[in-house]
Amino acid sequence: MTSLAGKSVLLIIGGGIAAYKIHELIRLLKTRGARTRIILTKAAEEFVTPLSLAGLSGEKVYTHLFSLTDEVEMGHIQLSRAADLLVVAPATADLIAKMANGLADDLASTALLATDKRVLVAPAMNVRMWRHAATQRNIEVLKRDGVTLVGPNEGEMACGEFGPGRMSEPNEILSSIVELLKPRSQPLAGKKVVITAGPTREPIDPVRFISNHSSGKQGYAIAKAAVDLGAETILISGPVALLVPPGVQMIPVETAQDMLRACEAELPGDIAIFTAAVADWRVTAQATGKLKKSAGAPPSLTLTENPDILATISHHAARPRVVVGFAAETEHVTDHAIAKLKRKGCDLIVANDVSKDSGVFGGDRNTVHLVSDGGIESWPQMSKDEVAQRLMGRLVQTLVLRQKASE
Ligand code: CTP
Repeated sequence: MTSLAGKSVLLIIGGGIAAYKIHELIRLLKTRGARTRIILTKAAEEFVTPLSLAGLSGEKVYTHLFSLTDEVEMGHIQLSRAADLLVVAPATADLIAKMANGLADDLASTALLATDKRVLVAPAMNVRMWRHAATQRNIEVLKRDGVTLVGPNEGEMACGEFGPGRMSEPNEILSSIVELLKPRSQPLAGKKVVITAGPTREPIDPVRFISNHSSGKQGYAIAKAAVDLGAETILISGPVALLVPPGVQMIPVETAQDMLRACEAELPGDIAIFTAAVADWRVTAQATGKLKKSAGAPPSLTLTENPDILATISHHAARPRVVVGFAAETEHVTDHAIAKLKRKGCDLIVANDVSKDSGVFGGDRNTVHLVSDGGIESWPQMSKDEVAQRLMGRLVQTLVLRQKASE
């Protein structure tokens, strides 16, 4: 049984019937040695009482009412700062909508907006509310903001309907809490890592675009590895079908020009890793209306070369200390990578074979060669997660050496 001694959880209870399960969660947290401070929304007070929660947690329970003494003793900013983790359970559709839109009109939503800690959300609502486009849109926003979700589970609901919307069981929520509070070595704490990932989309007209098969998996795996090492992690991503790892800040972009602008806005940063499969060309004159077949002969597209993001950032006045490029090659993999290292001015090229038989594009495994001024190092085939962890481990060493050299 993993101990949570010394850890502090801020539990935000929303107003749903599932709130009756919260006593058990508080009990489980206590058994593990965690300290649980509690905020109740106004609606939650209809389902559970501050008195029973205070008795169980041994802590003062904060309600929706701002009282001057609470603000003096423990302001809402401090409440969320003093915690190691914020847990929202049950997270009602209303509370989720507030979080997704950054509203702060009561103590619960203010604490959620004021936090710089990880947030775990356990949704609980009627199945139709869960499936509603607005809720699904809000959930996507929360995931993009790096919030972790547990559940909802599928099953019979208090209202008699069946489907997804039941809050996870207290032991499931506890497992997610334990996972999020796991101690880890954080050599990149206080450092900023910027990663590009996925394809770019270059519009032809309002409904068509030029793009490529990049899945974004390697870039997302690197973002996860970076955040696990404690880095402030910015993931600048083209359109992909992947979940944003918890704690990672994702900036969605479409075109190469958008991606470059987003990268420049994040400079200088400490480490920049360019895994995106940037479209080399864009359509010179994008049609403002949909191109019609009836217009006669097929249109001929004139292309303009896109900016090289990696080369631009490598030569930038505010260049990050360590800049890494990827090279997707179908033949002469390392030769091309050596040429790219020089041409782009980066510190390291991670070269991989993306020929049809390699299965790299869209697959979960990768075989890479690290090409730098120090030579070529070939790694055996491994999962994209392992490549990400090993690469980040290597970059931590490089960063430390560079810092020492400049001192
Ligand atoms: N890259 C970039 N901006 C571009 C093109 C590529 O930032 N406009 C980055 C990629 O993210 C990758 C590296 O440059 O880190 C190499 O990408 P790759 O597609 O292999 O190289 P290209 O520059 O497109 O060269 P070539 O077409 O000769 O293969």
